[in-house]
Amino acid sequence: MTIEQAAELLRQGSVVAFPTETVYGLGADAWNPTAVKKIFALKGRPDDNPLIVHLSDISQVADFASEIPPAAEKLMKKCWPGPLTLVFNKKPEVLDAITSGLNTVALRIPDHPVALELIRLTGPLAAPSANRSGRPSPTNPMHVQRDFGPDFPVLEGGKSAVGLESTVLDLTRQPFAVLRPGKYTREQLERITGTRIGVDQAASDKPGSPGVKYTHYKPEADVLWFDPAKNYDREKVLLITHTDRPAGFPRHVHFRGDFEHMARELYDLFRTADFDGLSRILIEPLPDTESYSMVAALKNRIEKASGN
Ligand code: TXA
Ligand code: MG
Repeated sequence: MTIEQAAELLRQGSVVAFPTETVYGLGADAWNPTAVKKIFALKGRPDDNPLIVHLSDISQVADFASEIPPAAEKLMKKCWPGPLTLVFNKKPEVLDAITSGLNTVALRIPDHPVALELIRLTGPLAAPSANRSGRPSPTNPMHVQRDFGPDFPVLEGGKSAVGLESTVLDLTRQPFAVLRPGKYTREQLERITGTRIGVDQAASDKPGSPGVKYTHYKPEADVLWFDPAKNYDREKVLLITHTDRPAGFPRHVHFRGDFEHMARELYDLFRTADFDGLSRILIEPLPDTESYSMVAALKNRIEKASGN
């Protein structure tokens, strides 16, 4: 499918999957309520879990946000296009189907040439990750088609460069709060804004960040932190490490301290483990620091996949 064909489908009110630098998105025209509702039906997504609106230009923020705090200007200039989603107070005309009736809206400009060109043709697109609800997010076109069938329209754009979803930063509370960790760390965002930024630990119970309460990123296989002191049955098990320690696991992927690489591969490993009928994915615990790029995001997704 060409970008022009994808744009035409979207203009007609269809839903089309498209590439971003984080994961593939399932897009619909952000001003068409019928189109946006199709996303929820397709994914089996609970309708109290709001969508991110994807833009191609900073000037479009003013069509959705009722106010743009000075810190947001800095973040948008520095981080967009890129894997950072900003939550603003919304304008009244933003569709309830997108915001799930909240008075805030989440916006980002993806850093992918195909996505940017598509959005230039269509205007803003509401898009969650292009997986069935509860499944790992897709990081290549095959993942999307495994969830939605081989005939589902996917605009191809290679393998996602980041591999985990964007950092979500809520600018409507004081202090600002990270609702979902991603490539941009809290420390980086503090440096850019010059303010202290909190983490929304209790996100699951608050209406402010509904998506966090649902089981996410879950493969069929059980995901567990690896404990070197334990004796594991090594059949039907995938071991993922970053320090290359234990030997003797027939299926062992190690990332040699490269957490960005691990982030890029994690969801594909989850999906491949399911495809191969494995029953367990063991993952070596990650270092106790959030300063390394992707460590906080990896921990968060692995904890969720393990059911915690
Ligand atoms: O990297 C990404 O963010 C990918 C690509 C496609 O852009 N998208 C993505 O969308 O991960 P989704 O729908 O899977 O996750 C969106 C997250 C959810 O946790 C949702 O609850 C939160 O953003 N969110 C959306 N609107 C919000 C709002 N107004 N206030 C608070 N959280 C919001
Ligand atoms: Mg998702």
